[in-house]
Amino acid sequence: MLRIGLLGCGNIGHIIARHAEGFLIPAVYDTIPERAQEIAGLCKGKAYADFTGFLEADIGIVVEAASVSAARAHAKNVLLHRKNLVIMSVGALTDQEFRDELVATAQQTGTKIYVPSGAIFGLDNLKIGQISPISKLLLKTTKSPQSLGLTAPARQRIFSGKAHECIKSYPKNVNVSVAMGLAAGKDADVELWVDPAAEKNVHELFIEGDFGETYIRVTNVPSPENPATSYLAALSILSLLKNLDSPLIIGT
Ligand SMILES: NC(=O)c1ccc[n+]([C@@H]2O[C@H](COP(=O)([O-])OP(=O)(O)OC[C@H]3O[C@@H](n4cnc5c(N)ncnc54)[C@H](O)[C@@H]3O)[C@@H](O)[C@H]2O)c1
Repeated sequence: MLRIGLLGCGNIGHIIARHAEGFLIPAVYDTIPERAQEIAGLCKGKAYADFTGFLEADIGIVVEAASVSAARAHAKNVLLHRKNLVIMSVGALTDQEFRDELVATAQQTGTKIYVPSGAIFGLDNLKIGQISPISKLLLKTTKSPQSLGLTAPARQRIFSGKAHECIKSYPKNVNVSVAMGLAAGKDADVELWVDPAAEKNVHELFIEGDFGETYIRVTNVPSPENPATSYLAALSILSLLKNLDSPLIIGT
């Protein structure tokens, strides 16, 4: 059975632990030890106080659900320990030098790096951009001002520019734009809006290319267990894990 090391025991970590069916979570790690201990209790695993001990546990894959800085700090080491890696904090991969280094390490160690679809739909077919040019790739995200630690009397745009710039200012909020760019082979344009009337996070994708055009609007329901997290993002990791070893591969 698949044996997972969980790096990050926050909202997404809790959802993964509560839905651990078809895989085991023998090892967990978080900079806040109480969080790691709580999740270890939930999934009958061990909470490691040091990252090296965590990596040396009997696990085949590390699921990062921590932060962009955690992904940057630990991803290479995970691969060097010959563990596959799921990266949720995709913003870490905007730095091309870092990304190339990780890919080279994965090639040398025979490991894989997985980027889940996260809080959007459509990442599968966006990869056609690597073959046939995408002329427009825009993510328009709307969130409540509180969720970004802001106050705003009315709907307003707080960022317009490239994904690699937006993620620097909002590392917790536009990971999906980086994933879109990686899939399409083209840095996505991002508009980030705050709206005091917004009760749910909305991602709108505008894509045009030689194939035609599409518009995808995703209204994210908060997780039933953790309202701060889009349920879809956590589900996308669970479905990735469920299908990892399947001989029938759908929608890649
Ligand atoms: N790709 C997507 O669509 C998508 C969607 C939602 C969230 N995310 C990202 O996934 C990550 C996790 O999301 P969440 O809602 O569970 O966040 P969260 O803040 O609820 O939990 C993160 C946990 O990771 C821990 N952590 C942070 N830095 C760490 C480090 N260096 N080492 C060990 N532990 C560390 C924190 O203590 C916390 O317990 C975030 O980076 C978030 O932006 C991505």
